[in-house]
Amino acid sequence: MIIYFSGTGNSRHIARLLAEQLQDNLIDATKMIRQGIAADFVGDRPYIFVAPTYAWRLPRLFAEWIKRGRFDGCRSAYVFLTCGSGVGNAAASALRDLAEAGLQLRGLVKVVMPENYLAMFPVPNEAKSARIVAKAEAQVRALVPRLAAGEDIGTPFVWPWSWLATGLVNSFFYKFIIGDDGFWLHEDKCIGCGLCEQVCVKNNIRIEDGRPVWQGDCTHCMACICRCPREAIEYKKASSKRRRYYLP
Ligand SMILES: Cc1cc2nc3c(=O)[nH]c(=O)nc-3n(C[C@H](O)[C@H](O)[C@H](O)COP(=O)(O)O)c2cc1C
Repeated sequence: MIIYFSGTGNSRHIARLLAEQLQDNLIDATKMIRQGIAADFVGDRPYIFVAPTYAWRLPRLFAEWIKRGRFDGCRSAYVFLTCGSGVGNAAASALRDLAEAGLQLRGLVKVVMPENYLAMFPVPNEAKSARIVAKAEAQVRALVPRLAAGEDIGTPFVWPWSWLATGLVNSFFYKFIIGDDGFWLHEDKCIGCGLCEQVCVKNNIRIEDGRPVWQGDCTHCMACICRCPREAIEYKKASSKRRRYYLP
């Protein structure tokens, strides 16, 4: 069973590829989290979780959803973390998160995909993004026989400073960086279509008088800003002139 969380499509893309290659079921946890549905699964093959890296870890809301869930049958799991450049020591924290759900981590794979965090970093252009995605697809395809055989596939190399990134910096990030008070709107561009409201995993956007209003509970997944068909949403000054990223 391939279970994914995704803000802007990268992780969904990798999850779909895994499901197709392994002929396994594909589960959209993003939708389940949005609808408040808990995980309750029985599987006879290893669970494969696919998600973006948020501050060198699994996204907190996805990790919490896994921890609260029920995963019966097979006790093994793999994690595929898509990222712009690095996952730090995400494997150590994923190991603990999965253990709380009664699952044993058999490997964590770092899959470099186009950077989507335009609140902080530039997004690669279309040509570069396509090259990155093609490389990631090849990496995933090469792993398929080992996943099908249920092998241990290891975890990424951990630099000494990665402990700090996944630990202290991650906590700092959630406390001080993540929030929705930086989002603002080009009133003249917004058409009030409500797509931002529909794609928000935290149900944090409400359309009021035809305009999105953020409600204070954001996880910075970048779905609202990247999915807006009119590029009407901005994040502080950082997003202006930056390409919006979304992989359908
Ligand atoms: C809040 C946030 C935090 C991020 N933190 C990291 C990080 O620690 N390391 C990294 O390489 N990429 C980081 N990224 C980039 C994403 O992990 C990457 O672009 C991912 O593939 C996006 O997946 P998605 O399209 O499925 O949402 C971050 C992105 C966001 C939105």
